[in-house]
Amino acid sequence: MRRAIIGGLAGIAVFATAVAGGAETDLDTRTAASKAVIKAFAGSLQAELKGAMKASGPVAAIEVCNEEAPAIAGRHAEEKGWEVGRTSLKFRNPDNAPDPWELTALQSFEARKAAGEDPAQIDHAEFVMQDGKRVFRYMKAIPTAEVCLNCHGGAEVKPDVAAKLAEFYPDDKARGFSVGDIRGAFTIVQPAE
Ligand code: HEC
Repeated sequence: MRRAIIGGLAGIAVFATAVAGGAETDLDTRTAASKAVIKAFAGSLQAELKGAMKASGPVAAIEVCNEEAPAIAGRHAEEKGWEVGRTSLKFRNPDNAPDPWELTALQSFEARKAAGEDPAQIDHAEFVMQDGKRVFRYMKAIPTAEVCLNCHGGAEVKPDVAAKLAEFYPDDKARGFSVGDIRGAFTIVQPAE
């Protein structure tokens, strides 16, 4: 009996702590869950890209990016009931154009990078009201690596690659990047009501 009471009191103490730290805990939990999905999303994308580049070169890999990137994002979104995608200030696919919240975040990412932050560590998490509903939003910056320049660089983009990109994306803005630049960001929206 005594043990049960002590246990009960300890339970109340834990509950009280959880409530006091509730807001922050929820933000942290949702951030961690978002990071896990992004890790899986990025891993699948990288594997697809690497495989296609190795098997058939960058021209063929463009089609893989075109089909697989939205498909993989869609699978994660469906599994979680979230919105999952990629966006950029200089986007290739108009479907990836940033909304106002994403635009502000991407601009702040550029400012943080300019102030010396490592792009690989730059992210932002926030609860916001969207269409009258409370949502959790998360973005994580995507740094540009050497391999990305095959399709997102300047002079590094070979003429046959440039021609194929122009065919798929006549308004392509995602060119002229250098290693270390912020290519864009992963973006997640979780319902939070
Ligand atoms: C084989 C060519 C190719 C390579 C290499 C490549 N990409 Fe892309 N990238 C694309 C294509 C094609 C799209 C458009 C995908 C779509 O239609 O959603 C794209 C889109 C993106 C987007 C989404 C935003 C936008 O511009 O529409 C990001 C972010 C991105 N790439 C980052 C990278 C990074 C980082 C690397 C290097 C690790 C990389 N890409 C390498 C072809 C490539």
